[in-house]
Amino acid sequence: MCGIVGIVGQQPVSERLVDALKRLEYRGYDSAGVATIIDGALHRRRAEGKLVNLEARLKEEPLSATIGIAHTRWATHGAPTERNAHPHFTDGVAVVHNGIIENFAELKDELSESGAEFRTETDTEVVAQLLARFRRDGLGRREAMHAMLKRVRGAYALAILFEDDPSTIMAARNGPPLAIGHGNGEMFLGSDAIALAPFTNEITYLIDGDWAVIGKTGVHIFDMDGNFVTRPRQVSTAAAFIVDKGNHRHFMEKEIYEQPEVISHALSHYINFIDNQVLPVSDDIDFAKVPSLAVSACGTAYLAGLIGKYWFERYARLPVEIDVASEFRYREIPLSPQSAALFISQSGETADTLASLRYCKEQGLKIGAVVNACESTIAREADAVFPILSGPEIGVASTKAFTCQLAVLAALAIRAGKARGTVTDDQEQALVKSLTGMPLIMRQVLNSIKPKIELLSRELSICRDVLYLGRGTSFPLAMEGALKLKEISYIHAEGYAAGELKHGPIALIDENMPVIVIAPNDRFFEKTVSNMQEVAARGGRIILITDEKGAAASKLDTMHTIVLPNVDEVIAPMIFSMPLQLLAYHTAVFMGTDVDQPRNLAKSVTVE
Ligand code: F6R
Repeated sequence: MCGIVGIVGQQPVSERLVDALKRLEYRGYDSAGVATIIDGALHRRRAEGKLVNLEARLKEEPLSATIGIAHTRWATHGAPTERNAHPHFTDGVAVVHNGIIENFAELKDELSESGAEFRTETDTEVVAQLLARFRRDGLGRREAMHAMLKRVRGAYALAILFEDDPSTIMAARNGPPLAIGHGNGEMFLGSDAIALAPFTNEITYLIDGDWAVIGKTGVHIFDMDGNFVTRPRQVSTAAAFIVDKGNHRHFMEKEIYEQPEVISHALSHYINFIDNQVLPVSDDIDFAKVPSLAVSACGTAYLAGLIGKYWFERYARLPVEIDVASEFRYREIPLSPQSAALFISQSGETADTLASLRYCKEQGLKIGAVVNACESTIAREADAVFPILSGPEIGVASTKAFTCQLAVLAALAIRAGKARGTVTDDQEQALVKSLTGMPLIMRQVLNSIKPKIELLSRELSICRDVLYLGRGTSFPLAMEGALKLKEISYIHAEGYAAGELKHGPIALIDENMPVIVIAPNDRFFEKTVSNMQEVAARGGRIILITDEKGAAASKLDTMHTIVLPNVDEVIAPMIFSMPLQLLAYHTAVFMGTDVDQPRNLAKSVTVE
């Protein structure tokens, strides 16, 4: 979703602003722009599409200035054209915005009636128009900023330049994150600390309702009532991460192959590898006492939560209420204040997940956050943070964050089972041994299945629709496999519970419809085989992903069978994710899509 950067300093800023935007590219965008102040006048360059277009524009017409704001836009209101690209200018005011101004239509009508001429279809332009109106009415810059913030409703991170002050950037936050970076005689602003990592690791995060006046040597932060407030300055670890593709063609490929390593790292936080025990987790959530667990997340993180539900219910006998966050937040679920709630989010900034968290907090529940970005809003608002430690995930399609979320949820479920007396010491040892051995098996699988997957991907790349089936934890995994394929290859794919097949989807089966069946030889295997028979009987083309025992037992005529090692049930979802991720990846590569930044998608979804 949109990215914001700003620099107020002593050295030229244009190139550095674009470099910082590049570090936000992973969030997804469809146009970009930069604004500066030169000799008392605002100047901007904007371009549709990727940042190379903006760079080309800046090469043709350079901007030489020591202050600037810049933006990558993920279109919400108005097409992704240059005209709608930020920064927006109105009478000496430049604005970049991430979020949605919900009352923009009402404000636009009001401003138009008093003579304002709107030049774009964006909601953002009302911010520039309001500021310009307040300035015309005689308000100073800060007063105008405060007055504008009192009028806008919705989610926003804003960065603003006033033409008559070439040494200040103003910023405001309500929803999408904003990080202020402290440099040496220079100050920075960014949507996250990763964007600012080359400049500084000293960061102050604005919290909702804050607005800031940033000069070369420091920042003044105010709350919504205009009171001066202080926010902590902290050292960010973002700079420690090298964000490059290594020897891989895409970030997604790199992140798939990184999984054995990052999962080991994640597990070491939760597991004592020597004693084969799960380490104690936060005291803030007493799994022994909670009557139930509410879980909420979006997209892939939600599907990780769904697999986690199977584990918490099976190992800890703990009932789990789970829903996608966009529904959860509005369902008015009656929740017991004695319960705990878990929110799963790679970015830690997803608007719906954050809103669900706040809903549960209001209901008095203890809040746990399973997050990758530990400096994120969701992490900061939680009582207990369970880091997934997968390192920055740049590919828009989540891969390593998903399997690390699973690893952490599995460890938490075992820990909860121990606390509730539903997992014995022996069971804990066995489960933990399986988790400990998982990275090695993952590595073996990744090293061995590529040729087969490439062959299969070539065939899938000419299909229009693909069905994924699974039972037990393989059901959410089927949905995740389908999500991965559709988001990066644009092939229509659906994941279904294998038992649901005959309640509808079976009507779709014919010789043109590949059906990918995820079937480890677990408790459900025979039942899944029966569902495969139903597909085969209707001429469906089966691609079976199973283990050695399953391959020996199935005796079915499949189009392809991918055989993985026999593994314990608890680690099967992580191991079986490997072929699903690679299948989506290679299919997209064959089709020539933009694998790391698929169309219309954003990495960090900070609006509803
Ligand atoms: C899909 C994907 C998305 C995210 C979802 C939630 O590959 O990455 O479905 O899982 O947007 O994002 P986070 O985890 O940042 O809350």
